[in-house]
Amino acid sequence: MRILVIGSGGREHVLAWKIKQSPLTKELYCAPGNGGISEIAHCVDIKADDIKGLVKFAKEKKIDLTVVGPEGPLVAGIVDVFEKEKLRIFGPCREAAQLEGSKVFAKEFMYDCNIPTASFQRFDNIDEARSSLSRMTFPIVVKADGLAAGKGVVICQNLKEAEKAVDEIMVQKIFDEAGQQIVVEEYLEGEEVSILAVIDGESYCLLDSSQDHKRIFDDDIGPNTGGMGAYSPAPILTEKLYKTVESRIIEPVIRGMQRNGTPFKGVLYAGLMVTAEGPMVLEFNVRFGDPETQAILPRMKSDLVELMLASCEERLDTVKLRWDKRSCVCVVMSSGGYPGEYEKGKEISGLKEAQQVPDTFIFHAGTKKEDSRILTSGGRVLGVTSLGMGIEKAIEQAYQAVDKINFDRCFFRRDIGSKAFKWIRHRSQVVR
Ligand code: AMP
Ligand code: GLY
Repeated sequence: MRILVIGSGGREHVLAWKIKQSPLTKELYCAPGNGGISEIAHCVDIKADDIKGLVKFAKEKKIDLTVVGPEGPLVAGIVDVFEKEKLRIFGPCREAAQLEGSKVFAKEFMYDCNIPTASFQRFDNIDEARSSLSRMTFPIVVKADGLAAGKGVVICQNLKEAEKAVDEIMVQKIFDEAGQQIVVEEYLEGEEVSILAVIDGESYCLLDSSQDHKRIFDDDIGPNTGGMGAYSPAPILTEKLYKTVESRIIEPVIRGMQRNGTPFKGVLYAGLMVTAEGPMVLEFNVRFGDPETQAILPRMKSDLVELMLASCEERLDTVKLRWDKRSCVCVVMSSGGYPGEYEKGKEISGLKEAQQVPDTFIFHAGTKKEDSRILTSGGRVLGVTSLGMGIEKAIEQAYQAVDKINFDRCFFRRDIGSKAFKWIRHRSQVVR
């Protein structure tokens, strides 16, 4: 098959890497791709949001399957456009993608389907929002309704912070139209975990669990980022919690979307807070997570292309996924200054040496190839990923590889994966 991956980050590199291993794959393209992806796929210079350009390319090259990495094109309706042109594409239609595209839609949908989530109010009027804030108990969470590249969520400890957040989103419009409406919700205490399900409208396959590290500094301090590292599986999710996630979250989404007349196909990513009352949904995404996918796919023994085809062809009930028992850890190496201002164009050294560490894969995010050199070209630069028997081994190997790589002002967290320890210790005490 001829397969096209859309996007240019670490998630798209691991998708391309896994797709390349399938015996079904004959030709692999990526639009626009990056320095690492160009080693394994033909990179084509079409932007991920250029839907017209992508359709034209897919027709010209007779692409058999298109896989969309980022949320932007999905929310803009790329699946509807491709399907109208009789092109096979993996992902949800525009209406179903509103689960990520609009927080108001997602919260109201969850409310209608009785899916556990923080209580909330929505506002499209600044004066109403301001006057309600003064009656709230803090902390609260203020969220811009639309897509804001992961930056549209502010945790507010007091009224002053909340007024500032509302002002920035609704008056200064720092996220443009995404801030037409806001959601103000209850602050949830607990630990976060991500569950991804591949859905075909009716049936689904859960992927193994993973945990992201959203804050820039160790011990979850500092501003939110796109994700500084991930590991899989996440031992916080017991068999029992898995069952709860299926019956209280995944299955109600599938039924709710069917009732709406917009069956959900593709990847549903549930960002959960495991609270004392059980798992609650923080957000839905309608695509693979980044960097969760870098930690999940190296553990998947099954054929990813076959899985995505089964979603497109509505036959996921026949698929059973197989997983490597080992743990996987992905440490993100970023440009100094990220998630704020940072410089680009720094030469990366040590990639070959890092690759020599056993069971280690270097997924590129913000890189570009210039002659034979690899240069930084984004905030998150590399996802250094290792498999190991047990999380400790995976962490040790990933950091061994990280320590061989260098570029000017490179930055990474030193504690990726360490949250798993307390759950493993807790579990062994319970068993004893
Ligand atoms: P979201 O994009 O909605 O997942 O929010 C980004 C991050 O903000 C989440 O990963 C959480 O760390 C945090 N967050 C969002 N909503 C809440 C909430 N209701 N309570 C506590 N933290 C939250
Ligand atoms: N890792 C968070 C996300 O993919 O949205």
